[in-house]
Amino acid sequence: MKNERSNFYSAELPLDALTIDREGGESLQRQIYLALRSLILRRVLQPGLKLPSTRELAKVIDVSRNTIVAAYDQLSTEGYVETRQGASTYIVDLPPPLEAKEPQAENRSPGISKTGKLLVGSQIMSFDPQNCALRPSTPDVASFPFKTWNRLQSNRLRRQGAELFNYNFHGGLPALQAAISNYLQAYRGVRCEPDQIIITSGAQSALDLLSRLLLDPGDRVWMEDPGYVNAAVLFAAAGADIKPLPVSEKGWDLEDVPDGPIRLIYSTPSCQQPLGLTMLMEQRLRLLDIAYRKNAWIIEDDFDSEYRISGKAVPAMQGHDVQNRTIYVGTFAKTLFPAIRIGFMVIPRELSVEVSRAMLYSGHHVSLPLQATLADFIGDGHFARHLRRTRRLYSERRDYFLDLCRDRLGDWLEPICANVGIQIAFQFRQEICDVDFVRHATPRRLNLMALSRFFRSEPPRHGLLMGYAANDERSTQKYVAELSDLIGGYSPANAGKRPQQKSVS
Ligand SMILES: Cc1ncc(COP(=O)(O)O)c(C=O)c1O
Repeated sequence: MKNERSNFYSAELPLDALTIDREGGESLQRQIYLALRSLILRRVLQPGLKLPSTRELAKVIDVSRNTIVAAYDQLSTEGYVETRQGASTYIVDLPPPLEAKEPQAENRSPGISKTGKLLVGSQIMSFDPQNCALRPSTPDVASFPFKTWNRLQSNRLRRQGAELFNYNFHGGLPALQAAISNYLQAYRGVRCEPDQIIITSGAQSALDLLSRLLLDPGDRVWMEDPGYVNAAVLFAAAGADIKPLPVSEKGWDLEDVPDGPIRLIYSTPSCQQPLGLTMLMEQRLRLLDIAYRKNAWIIEDDFDSEYRISGKAVPAMQGHDVQNRTIYVGTFAKTLFPAIRIGFMVIPRELSVEVSRAMLYSGHHVSLPLQATLADFIGDGHFARHLRRTRRLYSERRDYFLDLCRDRLGDWLEPICANVGIQIAFQFRQEICDVDFVRHATPRRLNLMALSRFFRSEPPRHGLLMGYAANDERSTQKYVAELSDLIGGYSPANAGKRPQQKSVS
């Protein structure tokens, strides 16, 4: 800063306040802009005051004129000064500074909407992010071929033209749509063409979009009970009237169809969430028939059917739907890894235009470079190879886990069905409240999930939902031993009477 001062400026523009550090990291232009802005905001420089010309100020503080021009330009762009009468710059008359207040009844924020409250009002299950332990539905991330993936990704990024880097293909990258369509036709018995595949940010975002697109407040949804809590939350937030479709080891109870219209049926027929059961053909055909009679949509959520222990994969219900009422939803969260956030839905042609537009507005679409990498991963055979490898691995791990559970936990827990999927639901043999038990177990960070949370009707069944796929023999031994210690010390003395609680959703 120049030390000599012009009388003219010192009267109105306090140059002391324009201290600049010529050695510092911040540019001179930014320092001058910040200093002037501060003087304006503190009203040291009064509204209407004419600033010195850029030439004059540059001379006084000994910087280049361009530096002052740039600082003035920034102040003008942000609305602190304005240029009037040719080239003169004046301070703008800003409203008085806004007052910050402690939140009180009268100045509380508008808060969230009623729909928002329905959406966030449910209890969130929290898991330890550092440690999978027995967390349900968790694949073995260590088996994922990251080297191959990285190679495919960098190849794609290197040779790709503009199409992957622009606002294109909000319904999905055609190459990935084709790859998924081929896979679904060949291995899941789904009837589809590539353009019916909509790529979403996980299956959850497909469910979110569908619940907003298909449901009005008061519409009836018939959904499995027990059933997928995160789907129920979305349907409830859309204002739906949710009716239970009971599921047990006896199958899906399709006798008690709700009276009146049903707008949407939600089901996980190939791997029931959470019980792991598979819907038999007779029930699939009956469910489709009910949907036709009630003029309802069906969401078939096929989230975890690739890992079937005995027998071949059961083809999707969608393949038997001759009236195109089924929207098939799938995900790569279990076959690759959850954080990849790629899922998809197969939509009936009748909904093509609406779903495609809704995708644009919802912003649920997935990064195109990521989609391109996945398309190559499937197209080059790596997906099929990874599935074969993990099927073998998970089958061994499941057997080991079940044997250990039988040995160490058999007095307390009994598996409900362990045929399909990468999690197993167990039922308590004693009167133990699972929510209390899971709370009691929290410090051990085993990531257990209470079975009763999936039930909407009373009384819920109590037990634990546990994953096994991410654990080798040593970790399985460790976690099962910890659980056995916990249950041994807990039951039956601490078990108490099981409350007739309402499940969360
Ligand atoms: C039944 C069911 N549907 C959908 C999802 C969500 O899948 P994504 O992780 O792809 O959103 C899950 C997650 O476990 C699930 O259990």
